[in-house]
Amino acid sequence: MQLNKVMVVGAGQMGAGIAQVCAQSGYHVVLHDRNESALENGMATIEKMLARSVTKERLSEADKQAVQERLSVSTELADAHDCDLVIEAIVENMDLKAALFRELDQIIPAHAILATNTSSLPITEIAATTKRPTQVIGMHFMNPVPVMKLVEVIRGLQTSDATYEAIVRMSDRLDKTSVAVNDFPGFVANRILMPMINEAIYTVYEGVASPEDVDTVMKLGMNHPMGPLALADFIGLDTCLSIMEVLHEGFGDSKYRPCPLLRKYVEAGWLGKKTGRGFFEYA
Ligand code: CAA
Repeated sequence: MQLNKVMVVGAGQMGAGIAQVCAQSGYHVVLHDRNESALENGMATIEKMLARSVTKERLSEADKQAVQERLSVSTELADAHDCDLVIEAIVENMDLKAALFRELDQIIPAHAILATNTSSLPITEIAATTKRPTQVIGMHFMNPVPVMKLVEVIRGLQTSDATYEAIVRMSDRLDKTSVAVNDFPGFVANRILMPMINEAIYTVYEGVASPEDVDTVMKLGMNHPMGPLALADFIGLDTCLSIMEVLHEGFGDSKYRPCPLLRKYVEAGWLGKKTGRGFFEYA
């Protein structure tokens, strides 16, 4: 199946990054968000990233313009009517995703694929809200999308081989490495990453070491590019909590219980970089 036109739903940091890499790889992209100011922020982020690539001489001014010409914005979901693929990147809330998928299922052409960038919600359950479960798949990008090479491609129970193969081909065209993953809580990336982050938070909670020192151990001791607490702030502490809850509930195993300190920070509105405060403070 040939995928030419893509809608990305949700203009947050993930959605903007996905829209950017798709447009840079030659796809026509509609970036959709119901919220106009989110859309403006998403487009401003893309503009900033492209301008940086021009400054760094990785992209010519003409190519930057061509990328921008392939990108359009939309506040109406009906604009998906001629898209071959929709990639959803909204908040991690099953009810909202289910409602969105039900609506998109009515709008998009019969051949089109619905992909979700969910970091941990079950693909099979999202697919079951549509009349095209064979054409629903997980396409889990990593943050920052333009930099990170990985895409987890997650097959729901009913995802067809044709859908899977089309998404693997697309991931190749995006210059990403795709990994085939079955639909289990947290998939692979977050099943491994989030318990590590949660354990780092427990280390602070139990007074073993300060956030700075925990991060120094992992950066200098394990060569991680960012410490787990800076990474948690970067991902968003609300997202980290919701993924731990999915793991805890999905496996029914107490080893996935979210640290009370993580819960407290989220209750305080300390969500990390995006709110200016998490385990660290941001100007
Ligand atoms: N968007 C686009 N590009 C970005 C960026 C962003 N938000 N942040 C940094 N970059 C680019 C920079 O432009 C720079 O590129 P050039 O040098 O070619 O110009 C390059 O990345 C390196 O940036 P910096 O020199 O500023 O900083 P750095 O060397 O510390 O790298 C980093 C930044 C790439 C984010 C690095 O710290 C890193 O790899 N951190 C770990 C990120 C990670 O683990 N991501 C996965 C999170 S988990 C997830 O996403 C899944 C989930 O479901 C939660």
